[in-house]
Amino acid sequence: MLLKTSKLKSSFVRVFTAIFFGQLIVASLSAQVESRVNDLLRQMTLDEKIGQLSQMPGFPVPEFMQQTGLKPEEAVRKFGAGSVLWVSDPKEINRWQHIAVDESRLHIPIIFGLDVIHGYHTIFPDPIAMASSWDPKMVEAAQSVAAREARAGGITWSFGPMVDIARDARWGRMMEGAGEDPYLGAAMARAQVLGFQGRALGGPDHVLASVKHFAGYGAADGGRDYDSSYIPEELMWNVYLPPFKAAIDAGAGTVMSAYMDLNDVPASGNRWLLHDVLRQAWNFKGFVVSDAIAIHSLITHGYARDGQDAAYKAFAAGLNMDMASGTYLKFLAGEVKTGKITSKEIDDAVRPILEAKVRLGLFEHPYVDESRIASVLNDPQSQQAARIAVQRSVVLLRNQNNTLPLKQSIKSIAVIGPLADAKSDLLSMWGALAKPGPTISILQGIKNKVGGAVQVEFAHGPNLWREFPSFFETVEGFSLKAQPKQSAGDIQKAIEDALPIAKRSDVAILVLGEINIMSGEAASRSSLQLSGGQQELLEAVVATGKPVVLVLVNGRPLDISWAAEHVPAILEAWYPGSQGGNGIADILFGDANPAGHLPVSWPRNSATLPLYYNHNLTQNPEDAPSFTSRYWDVRSTPLFPFGYGLSYTTFSYDNLKVSPAEGKAGSSLEVTADVSNTGSRDGDSVVQLYIHQRAGSSSRPVRQLKGFQRVSLAPGAKQTIHFTLGKEELQYWSSATKQWVVEPEQFDVWVGGDSTAELHGEFRLTQ
Ligand code: NOJ
Repeated sequence: MLLKTSKLKSSFVRVFTAIFFGQLIVASLSAQVESRVNDLLRQMTLDEKIGQLSQMPGFPVPEFMQQTGLKPEEAVRKFGAGSVLWVSDPKEINRWQHIAVDESRLHIPIIFGLDVIHGYHTIFPDPIAMASSWDPKMVEAAQSVAAREARAGGITWSFGPMVDIARDARWGRMMEGAGEDPYLGAAMARAQVLGFQGRALGGPDHVLASVKHFAGYGAADGGRDYDSSYIPEELMWNVYLPPFKAAIDAGAGTVMSAYMDLNDVPASGNRWLLHDVLRQAWNFKGFVVSDAIAIHSLITHGYARDGQDAAYKAFAAGLNMDMASGTYLKFLAGEVKTGKITSKEIDDAVRPILEAKVRLGLFEHPYVDESRIASVLNDPQSQQAARIAVQRSVVLLRNQNNTLPLKQSIKSIAVIGPLADAKSDLLSMWGALAKPGPTISILQGIKNKVGGAVQVEFAHGPNLWREFPSFFETVEGFSLKAQPKQSAGDIQKAIEDALPIAKRSDVAILVLGEINIMSGEAASRSSLQLSGGQQELLEAVVATGKPVVLVLVNGRPLDISWAAEHVPAILEAWYPGSQGGNGIADILFGDANPAGHLPVSWPRNSATLPLYYNHNLTQNPEDAPSFTSRYWDVRSTPLFPFGYGLSYTTFSYDNLKVSPAEGKAGSSLEVTADVSNTGSRDGDSVVQLYIHQRAGSSSRPVRQLKGFQRVSLAPGAKQTIHFTLGKEELQYWSSATKQWVVEPEQFDVWVGGDSTAELHGEFRLTQ
C-alpha cells in the first residue's frame, strides 16, 4: 500500500512537473512572439500598419484599383501587405514575397491565402461528403494532407473550414459544409481546424485556418446565395454558432466574416458577431478577415454611406483585415487622423496578424522551396488516403435485392451519364480551382477494377448546363465550364444513343447529378430535379429491364423520388475528388463496405425546404394518425432521414441503459447501448445518440444529435458503445430566459443508426 502511494505520488509529481514546464515553455514562447510583434509595431508607420490590415488581390479587382489608385504590387512595395489573395503559382508566390521582403521598408513577409477547401493537389471528397463519413479522425487526416501540400506550394492560409449550417438544399454552398446539424458540424469543424493547423499554430507542414462564413450565411432567404438571413438569437446560439465555437476552441487562427445581412446588419459590419460573440463570449485572439470585397460591399448593402463610412463600420465592428477591396488602405488612416479610431485600436488589430506571421515561421522561411514541391505532391500515401476517404464517405441510399455489390458473374457493364467519365466535375468547383493533380473518373475506376475480364462500355447521355452561367465560368484562367446547352431534339438523341449499350449489358451504372459549377458559390437553384434530360435518361434505361445502379455526383440532395421507387441501387458519392473513380469502384464491387450516413435530411422536392430533423414538436405531430403530412400533395417528412445510410451488412441496436437514470442538472450521465453486426460481412455502424427534453422554459426540438461513434464490426460481433451526456450536451440557449440553461426535466434518449432510431430510454435531471 505504502509502495503504491509513493508510486502514485511520484507519477503525480512527474505529471505536475511536465504540465508546469510545458506551460512555462508555452508562456515563454508567447512572450517571445509578443515582444517581436511589439518591436515591429514600434517601427511601423500608420500606413504600414494599414498595409498589414489589407489583403491585396493577386488578380485585377476593379474596386481595389478604383479606391487606391494603385496596382496591388505597388501597394505591397509601398506599405507591405498582411496577405495576398489567390496567388497560387509557387514562382509567383516567391516573386510577390520578394517584393514584400526585399522592397518594402520593414521586410515583413506576406501570408498567401487560397481556398484549400478539400484538397490542394490531392483532392479529397468535398466537405459534405467527408461529413457523411461521421469520422472526424479521417477528416482531420484529410485536411492535414491538404495543409501539407498547400504549404509545400507556398500557401500559408486556407480559407477553410466552411462550417455554415445548411437546412436548405437550394443553397449552392451546402456542399462546402457539414450539413444541417450543429453537433456533427462542430465535430467536423474541430477536426478540420486540427487538420489544417495541427495541435498548435506554426507546425512546418500546416497552414493557418479560417473558419467561415461568420455567421448565418446558410440561412439565406429562399436558399438564394448572398440573400439576407434572418435568424433569431436562440437559433444562432443553438444551431448556427456551435460549429464556429468548436473551431475557435480548437485554435482556429482566423475567422472570415460572411457577406450577407444578418438580421439587417451585414455580417462584415456586425459588432454583435465580431465583438460580442467572438471576442467577448468566446475570447477569440486571432484575426478576422472579411469575405472578398465585403467591406466595400457595405455600401452596396445600403449600410455604409461611402468608403469612409464602410471602413469605419467594419473596423469598429471588429474586422481586422480587408479582403481585396482596398477600403482600409484608402480610408482607415483618415479615421485615425480625425480621432474616430485610436492608434491603440489600430495596433490591437495589427497585432494578431503579425503574431500569425511569426508563429508560421514566415520571417525565417518566407519563400517556397520549389525543389521540394514535387516530392510532397507525389506522395502515394496521399492518394491512398483520398481513396479511403471516398470509401468512407459514400452513402448507400437504396439496395433492393442486394443489387450491390456487383456479382462476380457479371460479364458486361454499361456506364452511362454526363458525369460518368467526368474528371474536373468530381472535384467540386473549389477542388477544380485549387491545384488538382490527376483525377480518376468513375468510368476509369470501374475499368481499373475489372481489368479486361468484363466488357465496359460508355455513353455520355445528354449534357449538363446552367440556365444562367456562373460568374466563375467567365473568370480568366479558371477551368470551370458548363457542357454546351442542347436542344430538346439533341437531348432525345443522346438518350437514344445510350440505350443500346444498356440493352446489351448485364448491368447499367448511371452516373448523374451536377457538374461542378452547379453547386458551390453562386450556384443556388430553385428545383432539385435531375436536370437537362437526366431524369428521362434514367427512366429510359430502367425501362430496358436491366438492373440499374444510380451513382449520384452532386453537392446537395436532389429530387430522386422516382428513383427511390424504381431504381434498385442508389449510391450518393457527392463530389468524391481525385480518387473518386477508384473509391466508388471499391464500393460497387464490394472491396469496401459503405458506411456513410446523411448529414442532411433528404427532401422529396425543393418546395419542402427548408427541412431539418431537429425541428420543434407541434400540436399535431407528423406521426399522429390523423395528420400524416403538413402538405396534402406530398409527405412533409424527408425521403431519407438525417443520419441515414445502408451497408452491405445489417446492424441491430439494443440494451440501452442510462446511468444514473436520475441526476442533478449540471452533472454527467452515461448512456450505453449494444450494437451487433447481424449480417454476413465486416462493416461499420455509425451509432448515433439523440435526446429530447420533454418540457422546459422553451420548446425543445423533437430530437437532437448528442453523440455518435463509427465502429467496425465483424459478422456476429457485438460492442457496447458508451456515450457521456454532460452539461455541454444537455444545455441550450433559452429564448425565454436569454441565457444558457440546463433544466431539471424529463428526457428521452434514443440510440440507433439514424435520426428515426427506435431504441429508447429515459432519464431525469433534478434541481
Ligand atoms: C468568396 C467566398 O465566399 C469565400 O468563401 C472565399 O473564401 C473567398 N471568396 C475567397 O476566395
